Amino acid sequence: MASTRRTFLTQAAAIAGTLGIGARWNQAWTHPPRVGINPVVVEEGQAVMTSTWNHGMLANDAGFQALDAGGSALDMIEAGARLVESDAEGLSVGIGGLPDRDGNVTLDACIMDHRGDAGSVCFVQDVAHPISLARNVMENTPHVMLAGAGAEQYARELGMPVTPLLTEQAQLAWERWKETSNYQPIINIENHDTIGLLAMDDQGRLAGGCTTSGVAYKMHGRVGDSPIIGAGLYVDGDIGGATATGLGEAVMRTVGSFLVVELMRQGASAQEACFEAVQRIIRSMPTEDLQVGYLALGKDGQIGGHAIHSGFNYAQHQRSGTGAPIESVLIDASYGGR
Ligand code: GLY
Repeated sequence: MASTRRTFLTQAAAIAGTLGIGARWNQAWTHPPRVGINPVVVEEGQAVMTSTWNHGMLANDAGFQALDAGGSALDMIEAGARLVESDAEGLSVGIGGLPDRDGNVTLDACIMDHRGDAGSVCFVQDVAHPISLARNVMENTPHVMLAGAGAEQYARELGMPVTPLLTEQAQLAWERWKETSNYQPIINIENHDTIGLLAMDDQGRLAGGCTTSGVAYKMHGRVGDSPIIGAGLYVDGDIGGATATGLGEAVMRTVGSFLVVELMRQGASAQEACFEAVQRIIRSMPTEDLQVGYLALGKDGQIGGHAIHSGFNYAQHQRSGTGAPIESVLIDASYGGR
């Protein structure tokens, strides 16, 4: 089965050239196997939200509360991201995030809406809600991205909560790490790395967001994929959105989320696009020790997710009909890789 698949993929690649941007998506492409996944039919125009990892379940709940309070897809994203940023027990987002090798918690986040507007902050410290700061950059400045001290200054000007984010738990982990100082990004960090979120509201507007403290014990000043538009997140209101989790260097080198959306533009389903973006990484670099997972939401409401290694999961919430309760599922994208 695996070798038949590989043969088919090779043939498909030969037919479609490099399968890169500009190439026509090969319509004969088959869906990769989705072990452990219950395909869920999402009707166009019905609100849907999907977010990476276990913490996506609570994030999606918060997103739908924002929607039910009259909010938009963008409000769903901000509400979901803020909830996870507030969790001091989470070691990879917001307060409680593991620090860099010098003991500083530095945060990255970005947000995008259906019009292609984007806002981003990177290398920020002491800002409790980088997702909201990114939204302010998008909505209230002429810029897309603010970094470091300038972003922190803007947060203070906005009157945002500014507070030390290194918790006792994260400090103890860092002190233990210093005993060896071995930099080794962890695959599927406790099953809840970076949160990437994608939503479509009842009016069919798409939005996305991404927020993280980045890889633990990184060099001071390192910025990952999460605040980079096109890498950690990309949204095209006419096509769909995509977000990434895992080792940012691999995502940035392949401009992963933009790639996923461009593949969908060429006709790939959300699932096929995530699958192909993972192959792009696998073809470009050794992947034994690194994990990347992609999550995509098409304008048609269909969701896909795929990762290099098993262990990646994501949460999916949607309205199952007018007035019906929101259906929530945690999807195990446990088939990783090829
Ligand atoms: N994906 C998060 C990071 O690499 O920083």
